[in-house]
Amino acid sequence: MHIRKLSLLNFKNIAQADIAFDCGVSCFTGHNGAGKTNIIDAVWYLSMCKSSLAMTDGQCVRHGSDFFMLSGDYLSDDDRHEVVTCSFKRSGGKTLKRNGKEYEKLSEHIGLIPAVIVSPADTFLISDAADERRRWLNSFISQDDREYLNALIRYNHALSERNKLLKQPQGSVQDSLLEVFDMQLDAHGSRIHAMRDAMIEKLRPIVADYYREISGDREHVELSYRSELNDTDFVSLLTASRAKDVANQFTTSGVHRDDMVMKIGGYPLRKYGSQGQQKSFLIALKLAQHTIISQEIGERPILLLDDLFDKLDAGRLEALIRLVDGERFGQIVISDCNRQRLTSILDEVGIAYKLFDVADGDVVEV
Ligand SMILES: Nc1ncnc2c1ncn2[C@@H]1O[C@H](COP(=O)(O)OP(=O)(O)OP(=O)(O)O)[C@@H](O)[C@H]1O
Ligand SMILES: [Mg+2]
Repeated sequence: MHIRKLSLLNFKNIAQADIAFDCGVSCFTGHNGAGKTNIIDAVWYLSMCKSSLAMTDGQCVRHGSDFFMLSGDYLSDDDRHEVVTCSFKRSGGKTLKRNGKEYEKLSEHIGLIPAVIVSPADTFLISDAADERRRWLNSFISQDDREYLNALIRYNHALSERNKLLKQPQGSVQDSLLEVFDMQLDAHGSRIHAMRDAMIEKLRPIVADYYREISGDREHVELSYRSELNDTDFVSLLTASRAKDVANQFTTSGVHRDDMVMKIGGYPLRKYGSQGQQKSFLIALKLAQHTIISQEIGERPILLLDDLFDKLDAGRLEALIRLVDGERFGQIVISDCNRQRLTSILDEVGIAYKLFDVADGDVVEV
């Protein structure tokens, strides 16, 4: 999939812009605060119906305006033409249209325009608690498989009902009722576990390979799945922790406690990885996600690389550019604040690209 044209109106600091992208590499350069990330975020927004940053729709409306509008013109890998338009009004909410026809539910749109973003904000995946990694994994697997999202919704519902029951005065919690919820948690939770396990198994070798390429084989990383269900079935686990659950008044074990474990040279990446190593891992993870989406849906996601030089040394950067060059990764959108260093590395690797200068929300092709 590639975006051919993006139009923005009152989106963050961009009052108005029409951008014609290259189907290969498009680069945006400009000073800090110019609006480069905002352009990348607009592309992401049209794919996911929300900002990639922690910003509400209202916060995306340019200060002093009361609406924003984004429109993207796309061509799929099999030459299907799509136009996606999204408008948000402070008074009237959000409207999303595909080829002029409004969606009934925004969730129907997710997956139509696949995109993968690598951004300095990704560090939360390493530094934050396990729930952020689960959220990322959940959103990735649900894009791929609707059944997963259904299992997740049902699991969370059963979990919250079971927790409500556990909050009742001690002594009044009936075992027979708990068993009903245990069966529901088992049905949906075991499914979730199997699907997470399968996805991490797919990601694991690709992440290791891409990391090796980016780091010039300097160090080795490992991605794995931590779950209490890895070596016990869910019903036995719930039965074994029942007394603890009753005492604590919530469900202490299950897939809602799963985590993705990241290691470098056998040690936790979060503690022992340098900033550049952590960044390299995140890039390898996102590129692996890109590869899996391409394989599963037969459509290459748009690859958004925000702030390309963030934390990477020249060797890794060149390795990354060589890795994503060519047919495999499809369209790439890059931002960086230093035009000279970006263009010199692209020229050195010998990649054709389109270049835009961004200044104070204005976008001009160079
Ligand atoms: N709703 C909004 N209305 C107006 N301006 C906004 C809004 N939201 C963000 N901005 C402004 O957009 C600018 C940030 O743009 P952006 O993050 O795209 O910069 P950048 O070019 O990526 O910079 P850097 O090189 O530092 O990453 C800031 O000046 C910010 O105040
Ligand atoms: Mg930025």
